[in-house]
Amino acid sequence: MAKKNKITEKWKLIPGIAPTPMDLRILEFQSRGKLCPTRELIKTPMQIEGIRRAGALNTAVLDEVANRIREGMSTEEINRIVHDFTVKHGGIPAPLNYEGFPKSCCTSINEVVCHGIPSEDVILEEGDIINVDCTTILDGYYADASRMFVIGKTTEQKQRLVDVAWECLKIGEQVCSEPYVFVGDMGSAIAKHAHDNGYTVVRDLCGHGVGNAFHEEPDVEHHGKKGTGMLLVPGMTFTIEPMINAGDWYVCGDEEDETGWIVLTEDEEDSAQWEHTYLMTENGVEI
Ligand code: MF3
Ligand code: CO
Ligand code: CO
Repeated sequence: MAKKNKITEKWKLIPGIAPTPMDLRILEFQSRGKLCPTRELIKTPMQIEGIRRAGALNTAVLDEVANRIREGMSTEEINRIVHDFTVKHGGIPAPLNYEGFPKSCCTSINEVVCHGIPSEDVILEEGDIINVDCTTILDGYYADASRMFVIGKTTEQKQRLVDVAWECLKIGEQVCSEPYVFVGDMGSAIAKHAHDNGYTVVRDLCGHGVGNAFHEEPDVEHHGKKGTGMLLVPGMTFTIEPMINAGDWYVCGDEEDETGWIVLTEDEEDSAQWEHTYLMTENGVEI
């Protein structure tokens, strides 16, 4: 999702209530000029339960896609699978009509970085690598995740890109194996792994807070400097979703796309992405 770069308010104590250990830790980071969350970004136990249930359904949606995706299928067929399965299980596909997005999931093949629009005219061919990105709303709560699928046999280069993009997600996760780390700690580790493999990281789009809405603060950039970006504390829910390019990191729009949603690599080289929704806990992230 695109960056928002909103200014956040400061963390404040609740008048008349003794500061918790978490309050004290956040206030200390804040006094050192670090970007800290606001209270709205800390989910309540009830909200966390709701987001977990949305996540379970969203995972089932992606499992259904995994079972049925095959060569010769149109991306519109994937859209129908996602839409029908989600609705059948009491959910709402969040992408549908979201800021003018016309379909119930995103399908991004090869040089499409993200936000590809399902279409009857786009047919999966042997060797394609495709990202299917689903976001499910259940009882008002949101969960957002995507996977790469390889259609039939692909080239070694495409397979390696898919694998390294997965490793980048897992490296982000490892950095978040404890709370009170910064988004930039994760971004710098992800970018290092991508660069060590000869790839680049898309900078124009980032992960995001998620749960009570589709896109919340913070911006979760997948590159950057340690100690920058927002502090991640227990109770925050957010995505990690690095977009890894085989060529340069520059992206552009698709001239034929009237919606303006589709994002392509400028050099038409391949791009790969995986995404999970995470909850930060006292012991690090839970998927
Ligand atoms: N699921 C995407 C993300 O990871 C956002 C898609 S917005 C849509 O943030 F409208 F294209 F669905
Ligand atoms: Co997302
Ligand atoms: Co997504």
